[in-house]
Amino acid sequence: MHKSTSLLVGLFFLFVTFLSCEGGSPETAATQPETTTPTTLKAKLKDQFYLGAAVGKAQIEQGSPATTELIKREFNTLTPENDMKWENIHPERDGYNFVTSDRYVDLAESSDMHVVGHALVWHSQLAPYVTEITDSSELATHITEHITTIVERYKGRIHAWDVVNEAFNEDGTLRASHFYNVMGEDYLAHAFRAAAAADPAAKLIYNDYNMWKPAKREGVVRVIKKMIDAGVKVDGIGMQAHWSLNGPELTDVENSIKAYSDLGVDVMFTELDVTVLPNPWDLEGADVNQDFSIYEGDEKMDAYRAGLPDSVQQQLAERYTDIFALFKRYQDKVSRVTFWGVHDGHSWLNGWPIAGRTNHPLLFDRELKRKPAYDALMMEIK
Ligand code: XIL
Repeated sequence: MHKSTSLLVGLFFLFVTFLSCEGGSPETAATQPETTTPTTLKAKLKDQFYLGAAVGKAQIEQGSPATTELIKREFNTLTPENDMKWENIHPERDGYNFVTSDRYVDLAESSDMHVVGHALVWHSQLAPYVTEITDSSELATHITEHITTIVERYKGRIHAWDVVNEAFNEDGTLRASHFYNVMGEDYLAHAFRAAAAADPAAKLIYNDYNMWKPAKREGVVRVIKKMIDAGVKVDGIGMQAHWSLNGPELTDVENSIKAYSDLGVDVMFTELDVTVLPNPWDLEGADVNQDFSIYEGDEKMDAYRAGLPDSVQQQLAERYTDIFALFKRYQDKVSRVTFWGVHDGHSWLNGWPIAGRTNHPLLFDRELKRKPAYDALMMEIK
């Protein structure tokens, strides 16, 4: 090689070495353009869909700097786990409480996240006074006031709203909630119209669980289609995705992705977690009622108090890999995947449906470390 050429080559390598040292930690490297291999799942999936987590009051109030760091490093969208629900944000007829919801939006904005609001109209965690409003036009007016006040406050700052949550029964009929009992089916369109008027740019979502069930799917498609045909703005269908190691069958999930996206809306997986513990309704002959306290302290129902054995870590890794492979196949229809919690220590599944258990449903363990399921997703998802 000519001497001046070799000098140039040498300088070039020196320059490249300088550039590759620039990024510092692997975390920073993940945010650098194309040339680097992603080191976080959110970086790996950044061109497919948002990756998020639900945050509870403790995380919002930034009690633990390590958790805040993990949230900012691993996710690009957040959902408030409880603090925008009616009983918390609008506990009295004339009284709102925005302390924690304001801090939630600040936290998400401090990392430029896609910010989700959850949930404007829901029969659960409802302020008790609402059930005293039994006149349909009075309830309609009050729903409008509730939605307008909250959505306008965060106009342009909350990018997507779960407008109505859990309006359907498993057989696809509408749930006999207080809203339905007083206003009939119209309450859904009414709520979406109020949200669209308050922030025309926000994405408006219908959100529910067991959205893979064929009968429920048919009911949701029928009602949401009717609303869209009537000119009501609905932008997305949220499938909650509180799943287990064995169910649901992913073909059912796939069929729902197709059916919902055929409505011309985005599909989101809004509350993903995978329980590793048995639930009472999985047990043959178990009586399905809401009081499962008889199982509290039952070791069979809480087998992994000391930690998750390798064999189950592996099953969880395989289940998450299958789930994300499906999401990726439908990346043109799926716009967001949000985990219901940041790490296992904070998952609601430690307390529901049986109190006081030790569950392991997420990608980060109680020490905030990546679990084998996270590594499997990094390896397997192309
Ligand atoms: C759960 C929260 O995670 C718990 O902290 C709370 O006690 C009950 O609600 N579907 C939803 C979520 O839409 O709002 C629920 O969140 C879980 C089921």
